Amino acid sequence: METKDILKNLGHLCQVDIDAVASYEQAIDNVTDANIKQKLEHFKNDHERHITEISKHIRTHGGQPPEYKPGMKGFVLKGFTAIRSAAGTEAALNAMKSNEYTTNKHYSEAMNWDWPDEIMNVVKNNYDDEKHHLDYIESTLRDRPWETQPRP
Ligand SMILES: [Fe+2]
Repeated sequence: METKDILKNLGHLCQVDIDAVASYEQAIDNVTDANIKQKLEHFKNDHERHITEISKHIRTHGGQPPEYKPGMKGFVLKGFTAIRSAAGTEAALNAMKSNEYTTNKHYSEAMNWDWPDEIMNVVKNNYDDEKHHLDYIESTLRDRPWETQPRP
């Protein structure tokens, strides 16, 4: 892959992770179940780590990573907007399920590209995280643990 394509494709993946962080911030605000909230915090941290690692590789190849500030509310990619109107744990999880489909799709496509080895490792590790995020959200929506806990 040529350097200009490495930079373009890494910039795109970085933006996917930035949008994921912004959507997790809003989801976490809407979730009342403490265990689920903690899990979503962990997933948000995974996405922040992805941003840091991808940004490092963008700089190594002479590029400038997309701007990211914690607390950013804007969504650049389509598919991340449903969370704005999601109230309550189930609605927030449903919105994040659709967001994680999007991140998984982008990373799954990126697995087929001809990256340099060190970047391929990053893409693969990040994709493993994404699969885990989606698995957790889907199984939690099936098991509905918030229904079996006493209301505050
Ligand atoms: Fe994710």
